[in-house]
Amino acid sequence: MIRKYTFGTPVSTDAVVVSLPEESLPVPFFDLSRDGKQVILTRKLQPEDRLFGLGESVRGINKRGSVYRSWNSDVFNHTESTESLYASHNLLIFFGPECLFGVYLDDPGRITWDLGYTRSDTAVITSENGDLDLYVLEAESLTELARAFRRLTGPSYLPPRWAFGYIQSRWGYASEEECRGVVAEHRKRGIPLDGICLDIDYMEDYKNFTWRKDAFPDLKRFSEDMKQEHVRLIPIIDAGIAREEGYAPYDTGKAGGFFCRKEDGSDFIAAVWPGFCCFPDFLREDVRRWFGGLYRPLLEAGVEGFWNDMNEPALFYTPERLDAAFRRAQETVDGHDFEALWFLKDAFNSLPNNEEDYRSFYQETDGRTVRHDLVHNLYGASMTRATAEGFRRFDPDKRFLLFARSSFTGAHRNGGIWMGDNFSWWSHLKLALQMLPNLNLCGFLYSGCDLGGFGCNVTEDLLARFLQLGVFMPLMRNHSALHTRDQEIYRFSTWEQMRDTVRVRYALLPFLYSEFMKAALTDGMYFRPLAFDYPEDSRAVATEDQLLLGEGCMIAPVLEQNAVGRHVYLPEDMLMIRFRSPEDYDTVPLDRGDHWISLSLQEFPLFVRKDHAVLLCPGGESSETLDDRTFTVLSRTDGEICYRLYRDDGTDPRPSLQDHLTAVTVSASAPCPSSSVPGVAISAVVL
Ligand code: GLC
Repeated sequence: MIRKYTFGTPVSTDAVVVSLPEESLPVPFFDLSRDGKQVILTRKLQPEDRLFGLGESVRGINKRGSVYRSWNSDVFNHTESTESLYASHNLLIFFGPECLFGVYLDDPGRITWDLGYTRSDTAVITSENGDLDLYVLEAESLTELARAFRRLTGPSYLPPRWAFGYIQSRWGYASEEECRGVVAEHRKRGIPLDGICLDIDYMEDYKNFTWRKDAFPDLKRFSEDMKQEHVRLIPIIDAGIAREEGYAPYDTGKAGGFFCRKEDGSDFIAAVWPGFCCFPDFLREDVRRWFGGLYRPLLEAGVEGFWNDMNEPALFYTPERLDAAFRRAQETVDGHDFEALWFLKDAFNSLPNNEEDYRSFYQETDGRTVRHDLVHNLYGASMTRATAEGFRRFDPDKRFLLFARSSFTGAHRNGGIWMGDNFSWWSHLKLALQMLPNLNLCGFLYSGCDLGGFGCNVTEDLLARFLQLGVFMPLMRNHSALHTRDQEIYRFSTWEQMRDTVRVRYALLPFLYSEFMKAALTDGMYFRPLAFDYPEDSRAVATEDQLLLGEGCMIAPVLEQNAVGRHVYLPEDMLMIRFRSPEDYDTVPLDRGDHWISLSLQEFPLFVRKDHAVLLCPGGESSETLDDRTFTVLSRTDGEICYRLYRDDGTDPRPSLQDHLTAVTVSASAPCPSSSVPGVAISAVVL
């Protein structure tokens, strides 16, 4: 059951796809109060209550105990105490012995979630603007609640199948030649690869929809050549349009009046990579149409995937604020006022992403002019929408890859997301694992983090462990920042082991794709907290470092430096597959309970529930060239099991689940179980 309550005059956010009647107050489960415009929801928490949701946010799978803020932010240096990341996903589920319900705030402005932070027994949710639609969701189980939310907000985005391949990325690939070299090195060494990202360096002076003719002379030919090698180019596009006369996107945007404006009617300007930029008002349909159309030349050149960035929008500084900071500096010098030095520091430190700047421009929606900060969290999502609409116009019969940095609910129908600028830190490896189930809950199934970490220098062991988690992430991308250590697998002495990790991904690819598509097409989750399937098992409910994957699997990667193994809790009897490579793995039946699993740097486990199966194919160097008809089926069963394998052409944007399922039946006794371990069937299947 879903109930809707409206406060004030909310703007359309494109998050919700069904129209529900408005209920009258009171709102169930909460005490409701007002403070000026603010709408405040308060609820007492019982000791065992857990809170799931908030998609992209720091800290644990259970969000209880901290404070979070919905305010999309460019936070390069985020840590455990950072309250806002790049996205706002305003769904929170309350789960405890006496409660099971969700609340979704369809509110694009700032929201504070004090979830047992100020008082450990109280959750307080505050909508600052007070203009919102509030939805209260109830269902029989956590899984059904997640499904109800998807019914409310629409189905998850479907990427093309090649997007499940390994993607290599780096800020700093400066020429076609360099990119070709990176691809060649992967191919030479047998490291599978499906995509290479082009970061801002491919553009002319970092201007969207241009490319440097000196370094990338013929993008079409480059893209075609790469496709011959089964590698796709994935260029970046940023939100800001460089303010430069003679540059077509600026000229057409200016002529159309498509940029966000200040109160005096002039375009809002701020510096990003290309220097001063204007910011398209993506909330307007005509602006989205124009912007979506700008991708066309790249699509015509054969590009089938993009990443959209800097769309919080990130602002390095506005000219006004920079001038003010310089004036302050001058005054400090002129006045020999050394105390003023402290204010000077603030003046410069507060240049980027300044909140006052977000209050200084306007957007148009629903026939109204709205100050940007009131709809701030929609900016990235509406850019994603513009892009996806452009793709659909270009070719409605094809899936394109799109992943973005900033997002809001609704964007999960149009693209995937990556988790922004993480660091090469062990804590960020754990953060990625903990974010994945909450992103799935909020509808973002196609997601992943920068494997190896974006900022600072990765260590070899950390990259190895990142990749092992990455094997299971739908978006498996190695990305790193300019001036950091080279992070391609082949740069490291243990590259062969890391290559084998990626080869496991490819051996599992048809299976993982099948699990992803079944989840997406049934409004389910690809990654889930253990609480979702074992709500009565207090150990499972409290588990923060293991995830359920698809219908029958569980992952428990190593997340700690120097670890030679880890503890794993099994909520039921399972089969552990401990991988070293697609050809070299152990299968160990383990019973419900606690286990210490030894895992050398090269090893990582996948657990399969009894009477479920994992399918391994022979793998290959790309998703297009792997053999997805010949499988080794691994299962723990005493009888017969039937796995429903989903296979399609990988590009159909509206596939039907039923049309693409093949039954793979395996029996413990016949015809060819080739395992020496009792109860473990390893069967060869040719479809
Ligand atoms: C931002 C992105 C990062 C990218 C960089 C340069 O920091 O988050 O992924 O590499 O910009 O474009």
